[in-house]
Amino acid sequence: LDLNGKIVVITGACGALGVAVVNKLCGLGARVAALDIIEPDAAVNCFDAPEGQVSYFKCDSADEVQVAAAFSAITEKLGAPDTVCCHTGIVHVAGVESYTLEDFDELMRVNLRGTFVVAQAATKLWLAEGAQGNLIFTSSWVQDVPWPELTPYNTSKSGMKAMMRGFARELASRGIRANAVAPGIVGAGMALKMYTEDAAYRARTDCAIPLGRLQSPESVANAFAFLVSDMSSYMTGSVLTIDGGCSLYPNI
Ligand SMILES: NC(=O)c1ccc[n+]([C@@H]2O[C@H](COP(=O)([O-])OP(=O)(O)OC[C@H]3O[C@@H](n4cnc5c(N)ncnc54)[C@H](O)[C@@H]3O)[C@@H](O)[C@H]2O)c1
Repeated sequence: LDLNGKIVVITGACGALGVAVVNKLCGLGARVAALDIIEPDAAVNCFDAPEGQVSYFKCDSADEVQVAAAFSAITEKLGAPDTVCCHTGIVHVAGVESYTLEDFDELMRVNLRGTFVVAQAATKLWLAEGAQGNLIFTSSWVQDVPWPELTPYNTSKSGMKAMMRGFARELASRGIRANAVAPGIVGAGMALKMYTEDAAYRARTDCAIPLGRLQSPESVANAFAFLVSDMSSYMTGSVLTIDGGCSLYPNI
């Protein structure tokens, strides 16, 4: 794969998967605008990419004012992006009976509203410029599986799948494509945190992956590389599931 000349925006870029994706895309030649809420000083050390290939923009992806400002700054610095990855996601773990509505609202704000805000900003930019566009949404295998104690998260990922298909359907005739990556249980980031801290989650996970091992961040990054590349140019409205068979659930 050769991503030279591609300009890619990714939100939630400084998390475990975001960093793997950024490093992979840069390694293949893309220039990347990395957005996250962490301070720029901390973000500088996140990535392992040649000087000048990654530009960091501090931005809450659910805040439309910050997102609009970030897109202006990105366009000015790098040019209009080819691909925008709506990658930010958060999780809270609790049974439905004890899940707080504050956590529910925060999760929906970041996972669903934030995805819409970023995808809409990218769409407006591409339509205004008459440019082709490529949206990538980060969903999850749980978009279709009622994995316990994550019900609002699962719901947000189901909603993201519906949103992705809506963007794909509405915008195909205007040259904008949308697809999703659905990872499984990665041995990094939010899943590793739950796996490490929550015995019930760990017990479920240990028998949930048909391929028998936690997923590598690299395998997620490979899916992004394909979707950013021209090899995926006839693909829209699809979910690229890369989950070690988790979605074949139940597996026992
Ligand atoms: N780790 C997994 O096993 C797994 C599996 C399937 C899907 N996913 C999805 O992959 C994505 C990344 O997961 P991860 O494990 O790397 O998570 P992570 O917790 O390591 O990283 C999340 C990043 O998002 C940033 N962030 C949080 N709120 C933000 C906001 N409002 N605006 C911008 N940035 C914000 C955080 O600062 C952090 O850098 C998420 O969408 C997640 O749902 C993860």
